Amino acid sequence: MEKPHFLGCFLSFLFLFTSLVSSQTSPDSSAMEKLKASLKIPSSLDWSDSDPCKWTHVGCENQRVTRIQIPSQNVGGTLSPAIKDLPQLKIFEVMNNQISGPIPSFAGLSQLEEANFHNNNFSSFPSVFFTGLSSLSRIYLDYNSFEPWEIPDSTKEATTLITFSANKANIKGMFPGFFDSITFPSLQELHLAMNNLEGELPVGLAGSGIQSFWVNGQSLNGTIEVVRNMSSLAEVWLHGNRFSGPLPDFSMLTGLRNLSLRDNQFTGVVPTSLIDLKTLHIVNLTNNELQGPTPKFADGVIVDVTPGSNRFCLDDLGVACDERVNVLLSILEAVGYPEIFADNWKGNDPCDNWLGISCAQGNIVSVLFAKKGLTGTISSNFAKLTSLKILDLSGNNLTGTIPTELTTLPKLARLDVSNNRLYGKIPTFRQTTVLTDGNRDIGKERAPTPEGRSPGQSSGGGSGGGGSLSGNGEKRSNTGMVVGSVIGAVGGLGLVGLGVCLYARKGKRNCRVQSPTTVVIHPHHSGDQDGVKITVAGSSVTGGSETFSHMSSGPSDVHLVEAGSMVISIQVLKEVTNNFSEENVLGRGGFGTVYKGELHDGTKIAVKRMESGVVSEKGLAEFKSEIAVLTKVRHRHLVTLLGYCLDGNERLLVYEYMPQGTLSRHLFNWKVEGLKPLEWTRRLTIALDVARGVEYLHGLAQQSFIHRDLKPSNILLGDDMRAKVADFGLVRLAPVDGKQSIETRLAGTFGYLAPEYAVTGRVTTKVDVFSFGVILMELISGRKALDETQPEESMHLVTWFRRMYTNKDTFRKAIDETIELCEETLASVSTVSELAGHCCAREPQQRPDMSHVVNVLSSLAELWKPSEPDSDDIYGIDLDLTLPQALKSGKHSKGTAMWTTLHRL
Ligand SMILES: *[C@@H]1O[C@H](CO)[C@@H](O)[C@H](O)[C@H]1NC(C)=O
Ligand SMILES: *[C@@H]1O[C@H](CO)[C@@H](O)[C@H](O)[C@H]1NC(C)=O
Ligand SMILES: *[C@@H]1O[C@H](CO)[C@@H](O)[C@H](O)[C@H]1NC(C)=O
Ligand SMILES: *[C@@H]1O[C@H](CO)[C@@H](O)[C@H](O)[C@H]1NC(C)=O
Ligand SMILES: *[C@@H]1O[C@H](CO)[C@@H](O)[C@H](O)[C@H]1NC(C)=O
Ligand SMILES: *[C@@H]1O[C@H](CO)[C@@H](O)[C@H](O)[C@H]1NC(C)=O
Repeated sequence: MEKPHFLGCFLSFLFLFTSLVSSQTSPDSSAMEKLKASLKIPSSLDWSDSDPCKWTHVGCENQRVTRIQIPSQNVGGTLSPAIKDLPQLKIFEVMNNQISGPIPSFAGLSQLEEANFHNNNFSSFPSVFFTGLSSLSRIYLDYNSFEPWEIPDSTKEATTLITFSANKANIKGMFPGFFDSITFPSLQELHLAMNNLEGELPVGLAGSGIQSFWVNGQSLNGTIEVVRNMSSLAEVWLHGNRFSGPLPDFSMLTGLRNLSLRDNQFTGVVPTSLIDLKTLHIVNLTNNELQGPTPKFADGVIVDVTPGSNRFCLDDLGVACDERVNVLLSILEAVGYPEIFADNWKGNDPCDNWLGISCAQGNIVSVLFAKKGLTGTISSNFAKLTSLKILDLSGNNLTGTIPTELTTLPKLARLDVSNNRLYGKIPTFRQTTVLTDGNRDIGKERAPTPEGRSPGQSSGGGSGGGGSLSGNGEKRSNTGMVVGSVIGAVGGLGLVGLGVCLYARKGKRNCRVQSPTTVVIHPHHSGDQDGVKITVAGSSVTGGSETFSHMSSGPSDVHLVEAGSMVISIQVLKEVTNNFSEENVLGRGGFGTVYKGELHDGTKIAVKRMESGVVSEKGLAEFKSEIAVLTKVRHRHLVTLLGYCLDGNERLLVYEYMPQGTLSRHLFNWKVEGLKPLEWTRRLTIALDVARGVEYLHGLAQQSFIHRDLKPSNILLGDDMRAKVADFGLVRLAPVDGKQSIETRLAGTFGYLAPEYAVTGRVTTKVDVFSFGVILMELISGRKALDETQPEESMHLVTWFRRMYTNKDTFRKAIDETIELCEETLASVSTVSELAGHCCAREPQQRPDMSHVVNVLSSLAELWKPSEPDSDDIYGIDLDLTLPQALKSGKHSKGTAMWTTLHRL
């Protein structure tokens, strides 16, 4: 016992002593000794001196180790973590040995320029490796049997990298997105071949200075379009992946010498920009699905293209294809040369049983490309198939317009482009049946604005609202008026406001009543901003009720603000709706027609034009004040009335545009319209949105704001699929016959009417609660309140639903089959069903208040946490609070003007 203990003590003393001694030779001795101890240094290397600066293949400057270069020396063992204690290390080379174990962290070696680990038996690579390696220019990790690893984020710290080489290094994961010219301005070689990288080449590679790019031999996919913008490339190895789509334009790659594309799924014609490339030395194309003529490269170019290993029309180099093949390929170019056609179209004769092509006497008479998953556009080159009788492109994802060239096809009998995403005017065909259903923007002249783009983003606009009117000059001079929108980031707050601004020429008033009024529009709140002065030709107002489907209220940052009149001249409304053209009709209700209008900057509005005779005889002044109130009712889940016009018999209401249209469209018509069925969580969120809107209305004033016509066609959706209630308050504008109270006039729609309302005409808020219950049942079952296609006993949803709900088995059958039912969903559906039944109780006093409904729904929706943008805190009031709540919360300091108005209700 004693002896070993003593010996141990002595040895440690000895070790301490020697390290103290050697520290006099180099401060790095201790670390180097540890390195020596972990590595198996063969005797051929003389690492015996106490001063590591004297070891073979070790270099020092000022007694500090700067280089360790022991490549191909039969070194084994492992690499000690002490390596990171060599702060002056610049070059570290251990390639071509048998070192095993993990590569330790090199973090903090800020002088390190080169690290070379390739061809060893290292077992892992640390994710912090690159931290602080601010001088690293080359790293080689190739040919090690690492445990699977991903290229770590710390790599981004090595911004001076010129070479990153890690071929066959067991890298997994998606191709990293950070090898761009900003992160790595000096990167020239990126060698990541024979790993397990997945995904597409990231767009960030565009513009990079990479010259040598090896990513062959793994599972990369997608197109290689980005290569087009990697103009420094000299050598590109992409072979043995799953790349697809056409080859890009190579004309910017003016230094390209070696290009290996073999063993992928490339389609399309080999571009002449590649064939003509002067610098090309080697090109490998074998085993793809390339189409068109076999390319003939310049003499001297080494070409690897095994005959028959692609889909070239002929094997002879450079010989052109049949003209029909050329036309068909040019058509496919517009849809990105889909693989199904490349797979199928063999040889040089399209009449030889090619997919989608039928011929008569060698002429192509029909092209049937329905439901082929096509994206892209319709090629005008279809017009070159002069024998074409039937062209079916339905059920794809085609964008753009229908080319007018197609009208020149003399024999075209049927053109089916239904269920795509086309827009624009349908050209006039003479004898052709043209099917265009299911294209949301067809018939509309302009390209649809990109989805999710709010009017506030669609034009620049000066800050503070003092900026430009976006109306254009010519229009102004023609008509004397400009409709534009003013978008201003408000001060430092970055809030966005929008106004409809009208300039009316003096002396040419369009609407009768009012004299020109000046309205100041403030983005959000008044005072410090430059308001925008708006001169408006006066008029008075009108309303009506009933469905206005597709009406609107756009993004929640549209605030037309308090104060003054919201009168808009009829001429402006004519202009923006293209003179109320049929093309602009969004929908029709009992009280009028809704038109889409578009301001010069592309901002959309919805204009409701009342049928004459449905307008109240109320005194004009009273009527105007009603409308004035409606224009001020603001809630995240209520569609906003932006303005109105009264001119002769014309009564028009202007709303913001709701791009996704009505709930009924998404609930009952989704199939026909090519929409996705609503998921349960969406339905729940929509129900909650509506409940909140209605709760707010009810809270405004017990008597006045009862909607009375809640139904899916009065619920409108934005691009985020959040819902707003439309048409509220309009009932008050409808005619009242003399002394009879409005209670005697039945508004509403069959199927949604509370029984006591239908019988007595008595209105309380519980009438809306009933209708809301019906909407819940519709959301659950996907069935309409009144479904005439059902047998008599199931026609009336409420009756049917009550019956189905009494029994577990039948209840499941009542649930819309498009709803995916997991246990959680079923529980949620079940709770909502119970709530729906409660809302539809026969006796009004048994129905809950909307606040209860909101509570139940929000507790369910919370489980999925719908994101709730809190952007529209207008007037500093939380719009989700009911009025009494808001008042209690004392957040109304800025809203006094509004409250005054609201109390008038
Ligand atoms: C590499 O290391 C593993 C263990 O990590 C070992 O089984 C294998 O024999 C080593 N190979 C060589 C060539 O040293
Ligand atoms: C590409 O690969 C990724 C990951 O393997 C996969 O998620 C993606 O769907 C693929 N894309 C294509 C176009 O095949
Ligand atoms: C690629 O280059 C083209 C032509 O110069 C350019 O229009 C395009 O924006 C570039 N794409 C990227 C992603 O840099
Ligand atoms: C192209 O390949 C040849 C033959 O393999 C090689 O000698 C040459 O260095 C490569 N050129 C480039 C620019 O990588
Ligand atoms: C490309 O083709 C040339 C000529 O057939 C051949 O020597 C070379 O090895 C090929 N390169 C690749 C990466 O397949
Ligand atoms: C059309 O594209 C959208 C989105 O890119 C996709 O969700 C949809 O499935 C596609 N439809 C068809 C018919 O291919």
